[in-house]
Amino acid sequence: MQKQRIVSGMRPTGRLHIGHYHGVLENWVRLQDRFDCFFFVADWHSLTTEYADTAGIKNSTREMVLDWVAFGLDPQKCLVFEQSQVDQHAELNLILGMITPVSWLERNPTYKEMLENIEQRDLSTFGFLGYPVLMAADIILYKAQHVPVGHDQLPHLEITREIARRFNHLYHCEVFPEPEALLTETPKLLGLDGRKMSKSYGNSIYLSETADETAAKIKGMVTDTQRIRRADPGDPDQCVAFNLHRIYVPQEKQDEIIPACKNASIGCVECKKILIEHLNERLAPFRAKREQLSQNAGFVDDLLTEGSRRAAIEAKKTIQDVRAALKV
Ligand code: TRP
Ligand code: SF4
Repeated sequence: MQKQRIVSGMRPTGRLHIGHYHGVLENWVRLQDRFDCFFFVADWHSLTTEYADTAGIKNSTREMVLDWVAFGLDPQKCLVFEQSQVDQHAELNLILGMITPVSWLERNPTYKEMLENIEQRDLSTFGFLGYPVLMAADIILYKAQHVPVGHDQLPHLEITREIARRFNHLYHCEVFPEPEALLTETPKLLGLDGRKMSKSYGNSIYLSETADETAAKIKGMVTDTQRIRRADPGDPDQCVAFNLHRIYVPQEKQDEIIPACKNASIGCVECKKILIEHLNERLAPFRAKREQLSQNAGFVDDLLTEGSRRAAIEAKKTIQDVRAALKV
């Protein structure tokens, strides 16, 4: 049986941290065997907010794609490509823009929230309002049945479904399937300071950093703020470091640490050492692969060029259907 198709993208934000890995990338890696996967760098989407400072986008793309492949995306199994290299994303974006009511975009909760909260940039642009239209184009250009996304993207996906439905309705056709979200339940990873792990907070552990850099960060990490002296009992449920133990340290070992923390028979230094060892050990083979890939200067460019060439073959077929439906 033909595998069902999945499309998903990430904006090029540069090196990925372990929160990205456990939240999104690890899931993509799992999906690549079961589905016909199209994974792309959403570089046009970066322009919706970074239009005034575009200098970093190329390098961010390179760093991110190195992480993708080193940490498990297999270009033999899935298509890895760049949005801006497949012209049809922009073409379909234009066409979908013609049929998308502005009111759908203005009521989008992500849009309203970002307009209010982001002060450093002027987001009162046509392109930023149209973010979900471009995202709809990305998805339906490949007639995807499923889209792996987190909760934050659900409003966008709903708009995608509405746009697909409206196109089919207006032009009396069945060109576009309505894609469904493949919701991924992601563990909410805390950063070094106890806030959500995020590049902009400077509290992240990067996939590509060295084992020593990681060790130093974890040594300085917040634990249970109530545990001040070594003799104080602690509580792993209140400990920021322990949110990483839950991911990296084997369950049996966690079961030893929990009571030992509560009766103060283990100290935080020793406890973090256990975390550091397991975390670094788990990431080591991927980090080595990344190091090796990054030696090859042309690797990412070649991969994206070839992936984009192949994606464009599919994209062109859809645009033919779209033009036929539109009679243009
Ligand atoms: N909006 C997504 C994000 O910010 C990125 C994205 C762009 C996307 N186009 C997409 C995700 C298409 C899934 C499908 O994370
Ligand atoms: Fe956290 Fe471990 Fe210290 Fe307990 S012993 S507070 S779990 S770092």
